[in-house]
Amino acid sequence: MTISSETRVVAIIGHPVKHSISPLMHNAAFRHLGLDYVYVAFTVSPGVLGEAVSGVRALGIAGLNVTVPHKQHIMQYLDTIDPEASFMGAVNTVVNRDGKLSGHNTDGRGFMKSLDEGGIDVSGKRVLVLGAGGASRAVSYCLGEKAGRLYIYNRTAERARRLVEDLSINFNNVEHLPDLGDIGGMDVVVNATSLGLKDSDPPPCDTSMLREGQVAVDLIYRETSFLREASAKGLRTLDGTGMLLWQGVLAFELWTGKTPPVEVFREALA
Ligand code: ATR
Repeated sequence: MTISSETRVVAIIGHPVKHSISPLMHNAAFRHLGLDYVYVAFTVSPGVLGEAVSGVRALGIAGLNVTVPHKQHIMQYLDTIDPEASFMGAVNTVVNRDGKLSGHNTDGRGFMKSLDEGGIDVSGKRVLVLGAGGASRAVSYCLGEKAGRLYIYNRTAERARRLVEDLSINFNNVEHLPDLGDIGGMDVVVNATSLGLKDSDPPPCDTSMLREGQVAVDLIYRETSFLREASAKGLRTLDGTGMLLWQGVLAFELWTGKTPPVEVFREALA
């Protein structure tokens, strides 16, 4: 990779960002395609987010990935937000076109691509999403378009009800599941809670109620206790690695207009 005075910069901002593997994925793809871009990571404290966005404009940074804790707060500093990101209430990708910053969210579409790739077809299926936070909101929006019926369960029922209410503006196949008694009747169960981020976390539901023939999906990108227990019961499982990969592919397309080589992303991830 040769950095010149023409090289365009894309960056991830977050706090922390040190663990991010996005620089590896995107730089490998830029190199592979011979694109004169470089991807770097900036640790941005919450108190200086507005200044960081001004910096993006001032320096002509071509685009951003945005991660915790800025996905919501960055929206106020952007010129436009696409409808999906607006529904999700969160932006994970920013594109700078001649100083105009647009906000997008590739998490939901990335998740759907990972299901496709894993051969998991949710059309006409009964899909249960566990959790009603930011991650759930992103995937539920896209699942609502495709699933036969979409159920949302959350520890805090009020939050699930609010998400169902918001989704019902666009979809008529979404309902709140007040308890998990019916989990055995679902075709696909998605863990969109933060349970599993820590090794010691228990699964987000009683896995003894799962049955063979169901599919268990986790947004967390490794084998969580949920996936381990589901797999032991004979369920098909999918972790969040594919979502991480595909949200990156979609962001790359937004910045460059080019499709990155997925295998290069996958190698960098591995
Ligand atoms: P994210 O952006 O990762 O979705 P979030 O918005 O903080 O993070 O949402 C976390 C989700 O995990 C929520 O659905 C949360 O449930 P509550 O709304 O009841 O807080 C869920 N969650 C976190 N810890 C949990 C736990 N110990 N048991 C059950 N659900 C939990």
